[in-house]
Amino acid sequence: MRSSTLLLPAFILRFACAYATTVPTTHKHKVLILGGGVAGVVAARTLHQNDINDFVIIEAQGELGGRMKSHVFAGKTIELGANWIQGTQSGDGPANPIFELAKKHKVQTHFNDWFDSVTTYDQTGAVDFLDVFDDSVDNYSDLTVLAGARVAKKLVDTTARTGYALGRAKAEDAHSSASEYYQFDWEYAQTPEQSSLIASSWGNNFTYDTDEGGFSDDNQMSIDQRGFKTLIQQEAGEFLKQEQVMFNATVKLISYTNNGVNVTLANGTSIFADYALCTFSLGVLQHDDVKFEPVLPDYKEEAIQSMTMATYTKIFLQFPEKFWFDTEMALYADPVRGRYPVWQSLDHENFFPGSGIVFVTVTGDFSERVEALPDLQVKKEVIGVLHSMFPNVTIPEPTDFFFQRWHADPLFRGSYSNWPPSFTTPHLDNLRANVGRLYFAGEATSIKYFGFLHGAYFEGLEVTQAMVKCIRGGGCAQLRRVDEVKTAYPYVV
Ligand SMILES: Cc1cc2nc3c(=O)[nH]c(=O)nc-3n(C[C@H](O)[C@H](O)[C@H](O)COP(=O)(O)OP(=O)(O)OC[C@H]3O[C@@H](n4cnc5c(N)ncnc54)[C@H](O)[C@@H]3O)c2cc1C
Ligand SMILES: *[C@@H]1O[C@H](CO)[C@@H](O)[C@H](O)[C@H]1NC(C)=O
Ligand SMILES: *[C@@H]1O[C@H](CO)[C@@H](O)[C@H](O)[C@H]1NC(C)=O
Ligand SMILES: *[C@@H]1O[C@H](CO)[C@@H](O)[C@H](O)[C@H]1NC(C)=O
Ligand SMILES: *[C@@H]1O[C@H](CO)[C@@H](O)[C@H](O)[C@H]1NC(C)=O
Ligand SMILES: *[C@@H]1O[C@H](CO)[C@@H](O)[C@H](O)[C@H]1NC(C)=O
Ligand SMILES: *[C@@H]1O[C@H](CO)[C@@H](O)[C@H](O)[C@H]1NC(C)=O
Repeated sequence: MRSSTLLLPAFILRFACAYATTVPTTHKHKVLILGGGVAGVVAARTLHQNDINDFVIIEAQGELGGRMKSHVFAGKTIELGANWIQGTQSGDGPANPIFELAKKHKVQTHFNDWFDSVTTYDQTGAVDFLDVFDDSVDNYSDLTVLAGARVAKKLVDTTARTGYALGRAKAEDAHSSASEYYQFDWEYAQTPEQSSLIASSWGNNFTYDTDEGGFSDDNQMSIDQRGFKTLIQQEAGEFLKQEQVMFNATVKLISYTNNGVNVTLANGTSIFADYALCTFSLGVLQHDDVKFEPVLPDYKEEAIQSMTMATYTKIFLQFPEKFWFDTEMALYADPVRGRYPVWQSLDHENFFPGSGIVFVTVTGDFSERVEALPDLQVKKEVIGVLHSMFPNVTIPEPTDFFFQRWHADPLFRGSYSNWPPSFTTPHLDNLRANVGRLYFAGEATSIKYFGFLHGAYFEGLEVTQAMVKCIRGGGCAQLRRVDEVKTAYPYVV
């Protein structure tokens, strides 16, 4: 019978050929890991450690790391995304797992002194308002105490702005506003008005406050010329086989049933697995860059749309020579709050001495504004601010200029999540919950460490552990969720 194909009419053979080239191949696996950032790589390692090796990481970019993204600028490898290990370890207390990976893979970092190596400026040039700055540090720590007292009394969440006001800390001039910005917005990438009082305080405590289970209060900055991402790429290199990762593969559609999950790529290829773990950023989920079939249930959509994807933008400049502050950091108080406020010198002995590189960070709505402007306009504004800061210096033309547009990027749609006051812990549970065989993990699903690298790490680990139990058949527990998030207290009409 094998020779019967020889008898097939020519048109059928032609059809069969066309069919074979246009109908995409379907691959079948146990687990698909969607996204190869920190959460995706740790998920893969967790499967591997549990002897589940029939998985594939599907990643749109050409390398692992996600928001750990380095870039060669003016001859130096700089970090466009994450650059600090935030909270390391105190004595033999709990260690930040990112700190441990950095040590293991010998990633070069240096302590970055955010609080005692700061020069202050305003529109008139260098003006010492470090006393106001120091007060703002105290006011921020009072805010976290006030938040904790509300939790203890089961009071409703409020905005961090309300919290500041209840602590009688009102930033009423440019110096106080800039100082407050440095303590608050520079971390959460949004204003106190836009942020939850309780969740922002948890975020601070669980990372930095050793009395509250935090790692330590210091920040280590990556200066490794292989890039900060080296720590996760080398970790992956220890176990990941070439056939367990697909690069340059953009997911367009995720369809899920009780039997499994089908993923369709931009080039038409479809891949099928029993389970999938989606680690795409909250911004990607909010923006419908990836379609779900059927559409995600209401409880899930409500959770996705209720958390915020904030934006944090580092604007890099290189000059022929350093003409600025000798401290690591500088704070510029513009009359407009959040206008090019936080400066960091990379031309400092602890970082890249002689590099001529300085960068300024903007956040939140101002980031979105800056992203919408052409580079030349942003450069002009930044140089204008430098003229205010250094009235007696002839500012040379920068030799290089660059910033990443995180908010516009369809693979991220922002930098990291921030918890608004209308988001509640049941919402977080719903954001994190699996929908049948489709699981979710990433920095945004972490109740304790949302926004941080270590949040992505712990979620990649813990959600995968729950999935492994399911795969093993040892009790396939639905991750905690509710059908409807109720008001904190019923409205009385
Ligand atoms: C500017 C900036 C500064 C930051 N600074 C710090 C810091 O100093 N310290 C700190 O702890 N944290 C910092 N963070 C946060 C930290 O980078 C993140 O919390 C962490 O990297 C998130 O990891 P993840 O695995 O959850 O997500 P991601 O890293 O976003 O991984 C998801 C992956 O999915 C891929 N993907 C997206 N869409 C698709 C698609 N359709 N198809 C296929 N693949 C897709 C993406 O390319 C990405 O690789 C910063 C982030 C930014 C952007
Ligand atoms: C991914 O695409 C980039 C840019 O087109 C290319 O340089 C790289 O080799 C590709 N990587 C893989 C693994 O195909
Ligand atoms: C700039 O120069 C003027 C005139 O010499 C001087 O009065 C002023 O203090 C200088 N300003 C700064 C910020 O150095
Ligand atoms: C944060 O830590 C402070 C100091 O330890 C504590 O008083 C406060 O209750 C904590 N806040 C929250 C929200 O847990
Ligand atoms: C800090 O709080 C005090 C009141 O306790 C207030 O007077 C001061 O202006 C606040 N400083 C800042 C920078 O918000
Ligand atoms: C589609 O992209 C994937 C991932 O890069 C690749 O493995 C596959 O061969 C591509 N398929 C087609 C039909 O181009
Ligand atoms: C996934 O796609 C394949 C090929 O198109 C199909 O055979 C399979 O039934 C699909 N499975 C699900 C769960 O959608």
